[in-house]
Parts: sequence; structure tokens; C-alpha cells
Amino acid sequence: METILVTGGMGFIGSNFVHYMLKNHKEYKIVNVDKLTYAGNPENLKEYESFDENLYKFYKCDISDFESLLQIAKREKINYIVNFAAESHVDRSIDNPDIFLKTNILGTQALLNVARKLNIQRFIQISTDEVYGSLKFEDPAFTEDLPLKPNSPYSASKASADLVVRAYHKTFNLPINITRCSNNYGPYQFPEKLIPLMINNALNDKELPVYGTGENIRDWIFVEDHCEAVYLVLKEGEPGEIYNIGGNSETSNLNLVKRLLKILNKPKSLITFVKDRPGHDLRYAINYKKIKQELSWEPKTKLDEGLKFTVDWYLNNQEWLNHIINEEYLKYYDKMYKNR
Ligand code: NAD
Ligand code: DAU
Repeated sequence: METILVTGGMGFIGSNFVHYMLKNHKEYKIVNVDKLTYAGNPENLKEYESFDENLYKFYKCDISDFESLLQIAKREKINYIVNFAAESHVDRSIDNPDIFLKTNILGTQALLNVARKLNIQRFIQISTDEVYGSLKFEDPAFTEDLPLKPNSPYSASKASADLVVRAYHKTFNLPINITRCSNNYGPYQFPEKLIPLMINNALNDKELPVYGTGENIRDWIFVEDHCEAVYLVLKEGEPGEIYNIGGNSETSNLNLVKRLLKILNKPKSLITFVKDRPGHDLRYAINYKKIKQELSWEPKTKLDEGLKFTVDWYLNNQEWLNHIINEEYLKYYDKMYKNR
């Protein structure tokens, strides 16, 4: 049985990837390494807590800790690494960039060194469309060959990591892939990100803080579609190649929030326009022709269907949500939104 080391597997996309693999691709063992920051939540994988250790194992570990990682990777005889671990929230990176550069760049490098030392069969770097920067309304969608023009400390750290990953391929012949996906949504997303934050506020009849005019556009992808794409890249991607992954669902933030309110049957009067995010990217759009042509992948979930599923998931998992809305979260919320 081959073993995949998944990093950041207690976070939003990482935990969805672990669920996806353990349900759909039982031929792999999954070893999950996560530092358990504020965003890492063991409840995301509760059903695997006392699972068969030959199929799933968890280690609390920082990806910047080369020695511990190497020990784990040797002990578990890993064949592949999929690196989801990161500091992922743009607003936090504006508030305090330091940890973003440490985890996202140096953490990735420590993992690359492990991969190199053990002759790993494939290293997948989970990057983001934000590395390309911002589009105007009329611009064509991002393609993989565009120059990187990140605008936030978060996206700059992800772009830097992409360059280091690429260099390990060119210099050391490490078999890598980089995936660049658009905005994910779905179960287990921490309520600092747009969709779960708006759902949680609306459920509590709290104001919905839309930045600026709400005209900024994002391309939304249901998280399971992203997970399937990552699996296909791992299995069939050409070493050294970069793959864009998109949801074919561009919409403005204001429109998205209105759609959520409709599903939740809550009034539009909850919407409040607040001070804009500094350096706020206007639009992201993904051209995913390459992965479609080479790996026959396309997103399956329509936005309306995915949003309905997601709202229902949060309604049915209020205990999960309530555990997150603790003192630390409320402090964060006040810092970011009070007097904004
Ligand atoms: P998340 O913040 O929900 O989860 C990140 C996980 O990484 C957490 O479990 C956290 O504990 C862990 N982590 C953080 N620092 C660590 C460290 N030093 N060592 C080990 N573990 C650490 O993030 P997410 O939204 O699931 O994003 C996962 C990846 O996908 C990130 O690399 C992000 O850049 C990328 N991405 C996210 C989106 C999106 O819409 N959320 C879109 C495209 C790409
Ligand atoms: O595009 C991929 C990226 O998507 C990932 O790389 C990031 O990890 C992920 O956080 C996400 O970045 P965004 O900045 O696009 O996501 P966020 O949910 O923070 O914001 C989405 C949009 O909504 C953005 O235009 C800012 C706006 N927004 C966000 C919040 C939290 C608001 O208007 N109000 C809010 O309260």
C-alpha cells in the first residue's frame, strides 16, 4: 500500500481531502501532519480518531521542523507529499505578515528537503490563484504561464513558495506539481472566510460586513471538486507542471451574499458596507483548460447547488460552529470588524 503525507489535514481543504481519499481511494494510507494552529480543528476528522492505523494516522507537527518531519516520513515510509499546510487568511496576513512568510515559505522548503532526502515519488504544492495578482473586469482569465504579481503578504508568501518548489524541480529534479485553485467553499471552513462568516452572522441576525462596494469578483469552487483535481494531479500530472483549478462560477461578493441570504431566508437589510481591505484584489478568474485537456477534470458542482449544500451543512453542524465561536474567535472578530 502506498502512503501519502498530507500536511494541514486538520484545516478546511486538507480535512476535506482526507475525507475524500479515505472514502474514494482506499488503496492509499494517509498520514496527516498538522501543527493545529487556530485553523486546525481535530473535529474536522473526528470520525477517524480511532480509525485503523494502517489506513490513517495523525501527527501534531510543524512543517518547519525538518528533523521531526524526516523521522515521521521515514517511519511511515511515505511515497507522496501533498502540502496543504499554510497560513491562509489574507486579512490576518495584513495584520501580521511574519508567520505567513515563516510557514508558507520556510515550512514548504523544509518539506521539500524531506522529499529530496527520501526520493519522494511526487510533491504536490497546493498554491492559489492569488499568486497571479488581480484582474480587471474585462481581462481574460488567469493561465498558468502568467507572471506572478501577488498583492498581499499572504499571496506573496505563496508565490515565493511556488518559486522555491519550481527551483527544486529544475535544480534537483524533484518530481513536483503546483496547483493553483480559486476560492473554495464547503463543509469545515473556518468562519473567518467570506461564506462561513456570512452564514454564521446571518444565523445570529448579525450585520454582514461586505468590504468596499462588494463589486469584487471571485471564482467559487466546491471543495470536493478541488480535492478530486488534486488527486488526479497526484496520479496523472506531468512532473514539473503547474495546473490551474477553477470552479467556473464567477460572481461578485455582493451577489454571493444576497444568494446566501435567500437560501437562509434572512433579510438583505443585514448587509453592511464596511471599510475596504487594503490592496484588495478586484477580480480572480481561472482558465482551467490545461487540466481539462490533460487530466479530463472539470468542476462538477454548480454554485447554487453547492451553496445550498454548504448552508445545510452549517445548519446541521451548529455544534461544530459553536465550538469555534469561542473567546479567541470573538476577540479576532472585534479586532477586525469593530469600528471598521
Ligand atoms: P486553513 O487555514 O483552513 O488550514 C490550514 C491548516 O494548516 C490548518 O489545519 C493549520 O493548523 C495547518 N498549519 C498551519 N501552519 C502549519 C505549520 N507550520 N505546520 C503544520 N501545519 C500547519 O487553510 P485552507 O483554506 O484549508 O487552505 C489549505 C491550502 O490551500 C493552503 O495552502 C492555501 O493557501 C490553499 N488554498 C486555499 C484556498 C481557499 O479558498 N481556502 C484556495 C486556493 C488555495
Ligand atoms: O483565491 C483563493 C484564495 O481564496 C485562497 O488562496 C485564500 O487562502 C482564501 O482565503 C481566499 O482568499 P480571499 O481573500 O478571496 O477570501 P476571503 O474569504 O477572505 O474573501 C473573499 C472575498 O470577500 C474578498 O473579496 C474579500 C471579501 N470579504 C471577505 C470577508 C472575510 C468581505 O467582503 N467581507 C468579509 O468579512
